[in-house]
Amino acid sequence: MQSVLATEIVCVLRYTMHSIAATGLSSEGVKDEFAQHAKEEEEHLDLLTERINQLGGKPNLNPEGVLSRAASEYVEGENLVDMIKENLIAERIAIETYRDMVRYFGEKDPTTRSMLERILAQEEEHANDMHDLLVSHEGRPMLEK
Ligand SMILES: [Fe+2]
Ligand SMILES: [Fe+2]
Repeated sequence: MQSVLATEIVCVLRYTMHSIAATGLSSEGVKDEFAQHAKEEEEHLDLLTERINQLGGKPNLNPEGVLSRAASEYVEGENLVDMIKENLIAERIAIETYRDMVRYFGEKDPTTRSMLERILAQEEEHANDMHDLLVSHEGRPMLEK
């Protein structure tokens, strides 16, 4: 869970950066979407830190090493389409990570599992949002790797 915690921190930072870096007339709706996602990633971060604490662990919020603990990257992106793509890549990674974790917790810890499932559902919405934005701004979808 420490790794996904770091991933969420990187997601908060990336979406926040993109929400202020997105410029131009056509980007207003996209900016709002980025800002909304930044807020939701922060909620994920809160849920994870709280759960780690409840489980008797110590959430690792040390900024040193966040990027190396995280599963996704911090890329600013050159333009709006780049930003959308970066977020879509990161969301797909997050989805994979949460799916693995849901399987791992399985029946062992249903409370943690259901929390992770709630976050997973939201990451799937995020990926969907980024996918739709990409289609409307670039005219075509991005294939899964
Ligand atoms: Fe998240
Ligand atoms: Fe997300």
